[in-house]
Amino acid sequence: MASPKKLKILFVTSELFPFVKTGGLADVSAALPQMLTELGHEVRILVPKYGAIDVRKYKIHDVVRLKDLSIKIGDKDVVFSVKSSFLPSQKVRVQIYFLDNQEYYGSRKSLYSDPLTGTDYKDNDERFILLSKSVFELIQKLGWVPDIIHCNDWQCGLVPSIFKTANPLDPQHSTFKILFTIHNLSYQGIFNKTTYDKTGLPEELKTDKGLLHDGKFNFMKCGLMYADCINTVSEGYAKEILSDKEIGCGLNSVLNKRKNNLFGLVNGIDYSIWNPETDKFIPKKFTYKNLENKLFNKQVLVERFGLKFDESTPVIGIISRLYDSKGMDLITESFDEMMKLNIQVVMLGTGDRKYHQAFEKLAKKYNSKFSCYLGFNDELAHLIEAGSDIFLMPSKYEPCGLNQMYSLVYGTVPLVRETGGLADTVIKYSEKTENGTGFMFKQYDSAALVKELKRVITTFSDKKAWSKIVKNGMKTDFSWQSSAKKYIELYKTVLNG
Ligand code: GLC
Repeated sequence: MASPKKLKILFVTSELFPFVKTGGLADVSAALPQMLTELGHEVRILVPKYGAIDVRKYKIHDVVRLKDLSIKIGDKDVVFSVKSSFLPSQKVRVQIYFLDNQEYYGSRKSLYSDPLTGTDYKDNDERFILLSKSVFELIQKLGWVPDIIHCNDWQCGLVPSIFKTANPLDPQHSTFKILFTIHNLSYQGIFNKTTYDKTGLPEELKTDKGLLHDGKFNFMKCGLMYADCINTVSEGYAKEILSDKEIGCGLNSVLNKRKNNLFGLVNGIDYSIWNPETDKFIPKKFTYKNLENKLFNKQVLVERFGLKFDESTPVIGIISRLYDSKGMDLITESFDEMMKLNIQVVMLGTGDRKYHQAFEKLAKKYNSKFSCYLGFNDELAHLIEAGSDIFLMPSKYEPCGLNQMYSLVYGTVPLVRETGGLADTVIKYSEKTENGTGFMFKQYDSAALVKELKRVITTFSDKKAWSKIVKNGMKTDFSWQSSAKKYIELYKTVLNG
């Protein structure tokens, strides 16, 4: 069957910028549908309406025929509605469906875990069974049948398995194919076996050969087994999850069975939000032609963090979720060594309590050189990208990573670990050829980090070499256009396959 020129895509996600965000998934969930729409396709997004979403600000309204729908979770009849709004893009209109249920989403300010205790909500299984099952109700009630359902991460993991094993739809509503994108394999949605009974999936698949994994119910595995096609967000990570035991997070063999249908497509960045030439959040806009404006931003940044500005001291920015997988253990281990160097460090992030405590302590100990903001602050994120000299991202694994790309276009030279999407998007600097956009270390240990950091600092003091690296990065094109075109190709391959 030839695929239609204009594709209809239902994009299902658990986070969406600017409504709710914990990580890069939110950025991708807005930017990719937007670009696909610009390229002439019809995309609609489905996302839960969490309590943190500002209904008035975003003019979220009821849709009469999508009110009081119901699905079963175990024996419970769960009633929900779907509301509607649009992405706040100037260029195109992308429709959003907000999945509304007070108990599961509306009453929760945060997405996955209780902000007071830091622990996952106990009913996350039911919350995301609802997201997956609502897809079918939505299609049935709308009578709008997409060509592709694009599912993202474990929260949408049940969509493919429910469709393929227990399709709740009429045949005329069942003509779509499903693409499942892995943004991060280390979060799999693992629950006790009893969760299985709430899903309505067939009893005979309640085994490890079927949809259980190591005796547990695993949402990610459900997605991987039954999606028509799978992709992840860089080519490097796509290879690593197949071959590297640690990065495969226990799912190597499941992934290897799907090897012929597993692709790597690197993310882009949204230049309408992340562009130093037009960024509304930063004190002075700049390009590679007027880097003195970047220096002004550096001063504002340093002073905003309560440190003393000195042009010749390199400022290292860190914006991250504070978890082991992001390399926070390397940073805390090497911190004393780092602080011996002539640097200042500014940090923005939230995450593991142990890291909140550790960084608060370090900020006291090194109060003239290190300062941190342990929370979310979008404006501050832009200022850090614009004002820092170096961006540190020592992830243990990184499916794609967006901040290193933001850094590159803001002339902030990344120092990253050579893994996944980081290795795919940063080009190692070579003194010989003067080629490259950043620095990398391979060995995951604090000594390797500090060693490479020293090299970065030495290079920083060579003004000519540094300015070359800065400009190389700023001239790189990370726009979504080329990645979105690859997604379209992939959708078409899936439709024709
Ligand atoms: C996840 C990954 C990150 C990726 C993002 C968007 O947050 O950890 O590497 O860039 O998803 O795909």
